[in-house]
Amino acid sequence: MCGIVGYVGPRSDDTALNVVMEGLTRLEYRGYDSAGVALVNGNGVEWEKRAGKLANLRNALDEAPLHASATAIGHTRWATHGGPTDLNAHPHLGGTTDKLAVVHNGIIENFHSLKAELLEAGVQFRSETDTEVAAQMLARAYDVTGDLYAAMTSVVNRLEGAFTLLAVHADAPDRVVAARRNSPLVVGLGEGENFLGSDVAAFIGYTRNAVELGQDQIVVITPDSVEITDFDGNPAQGKAYEVTWDAAAAEKGGYDTFMEKEIHDQPHAVGDTLLGRTAPDGSLLLDEMSISEDVLRQIDRITIIACGTSAYAGMVAKYAIEHWTRIPVEVALAHEFRYCDPIVNDRTLIVSISQSGETMDTLMAVRHARALGARTLSICNTHGSTIPRESDAVLYTHAGPEIAVASTKAFLAQITACYILGLYLAQLRGGSFAEDARTVMGQLAEMPEKIATLLGTMDRVKEIAGFMADTRSVLFLGRNVGYPVAMEGALKLKELAYIHAEGFAAGELKHGPIALIEPGQPVFIIVPGPDTPHDLHKKVVSNIQEIRARGARTIVIAEEGDTDVIPFADEVIWVPQAPPLLEPLLTVVPLQVFALYLSTAKGLDVDQPRNLAKSVTVE
Ligand code: F6R
Repeated sequence: MCGIVGYVGPRSDDTALNVVMEGLTRLEYRGYDSAGVALVNGNGVEWEKRAGKLANLRNALDEAPLHASATAIGHTRWATHGGPTDLNAHPHLGGTTDKLAVVHNGIIENFHSLKAELLEAGVQFRSETDTEVAAQMLARAYDVTGDLYAAMTSVVNRLEGAFTLLAVHADAPDRVVAARRNSPLVVGLGEGENFLGSDVAAFIGYTRNAVELGQDQIVVITPDSVEITDFDGNPAQGKAYEVTWDAAAAEKGGYDTFMEKEIHDQPHAVGDTLLGRTAPDGSLLLDEMSISEDVLRQIDRITIIACGTSAYAGMVAKYAIEHWTRIPVEVALAHEFRYCDPIVNDRTLIVSISQSGETMDTLMAVRHARALGARTLSICNTHGSTIPRESDAVLYTHAGPEIAVASTKAFLAQITACYILGLYLAQLRGGSFAEDARTVMGQLAEMPEKIATLLGTMDRVKEIAGFMADTRSVLFLGRNVGYPVAMEGALKLKELAYIHAEGFAAGELKHGPIALIEPGQPVFIIVPGPDTPHDLHKKVVSNIQEIRARGARTIVIAEEGDTDVIPFADEVIWVPQAPPLLEPLLTVVPLQVFALYLSTAKGLDVDQPRNLAKSVTVE
């Protein structure tokens, strides 16, 4: 939540402002209810900030340009404390001379008591934000120390909660001082210029050399130097890495929206996540698995923790991993996990799933599990982010940057990574499915092409979405691995089209939800392939008949050749045939496409739905 950019460069022209605005454009997915910039130049600190999307800030800057500067910070906000107004937008100025400006990502949890102290001392506040407390404290500390870094060290130890703070001061025009605790911050290394960003997308147009800051670290960037210390002023090291994707990966590539592009990226997201995981003899390799094989053999329970779409990927994983390994798998919403007195010990493997690697609920759950002695493995799409860094092992998904707020390609990549993990454990622990791992890896290798083929057949889905722009409620039914797909289809629709949508396990229908069916009610049904064990295919076909008999409009997602569904379907969306456990990689695609086009048909903002932000870095 909230995107932060900082820049220090060599020249006094428009560079700093342009770099920061470009960075904010790339980070706008993190929060988009207000935005602002502060520059340092011969006039001191100049700033502009506006409620609403970045375009409002851009217009304000066009109308009243700021003077040239080589140093700038910027912010795009997802409001927590204080509504999304011009005044609450960042930057926030400290003191009465307006020489110090701050932008902030996170929540300063003890801001009430700190604010009371400052009010008592006569400080006047201009906003309702927690951030202004930090700005005022920094300004007062600067008055004492005369040095921005020293001011930062004296303030950060008094702040509780999550924060990345970037500060500039009129008297130190060649530097940005930043601190991080529990919120992300990455440094971009340039030549004669340096960058700061909430993530590398902020500066990927300029450099791929990044340094990820650790917990409780401060960094001072000037055009020629990057100095990192801990909060007590001791020299510290960040983690240097090279970003493997380029600026084009974070652009729309000819599509109208990022979401559309990312849906079409899915064959690559799955293919790239599979890459390099198989040894020449066909057995599985997991290079990033730094939990020993002995420990993994002893694991007697797996708990998957995640939120939202990532949790649905975890629900798919449960079916697959339990089937292949016979290890009991539980899926817990990260925000519930910590507070339910979880049963966790050193034989529990905690698998966190997070696209961003920053979701606060998931991070806190991982920390809690570690404190209870569990081994933690992170499935994550963002290199160097906090959750993998704090886990015992990581299995990266290779979906590339996901910019649209609603997750699509990350979901497919997460499911793929979960399959890899399940097959790896099956292979490692022996048992009846150890030998099957190679066969399933072979089947997985065929999935990218099947997804690409399916994507080529989505015209009818687009048409259906077009007819349904006035629909007020849509239901989704699935069974087995189709059940989390139904939940994901409903979530996509809520997020993107703002209409009521529910996903149910098809078997649950008769236990209540069938009462919702009335004439014309649209229901998507994800039908398992005819080869699915336990006659599940037949059972779901019966469910379609039951709701059709009550007037439902049935939109059936079925495997090519599954003629059994035809008599009961108002619409059939065909997907290529696949082994039952791998079907979610296909069946979810039409649901994503449907949500995308229904949102478009309603004239909504597909990439930045209301009230949401891409990385939920607050609890
Ligand atoms: C839905 C969506 C969210 C995220 C959830 C977890 O489209 O994007 O539900 O899946 O906030 O985010 P990560 O995976 O970054 O932990």
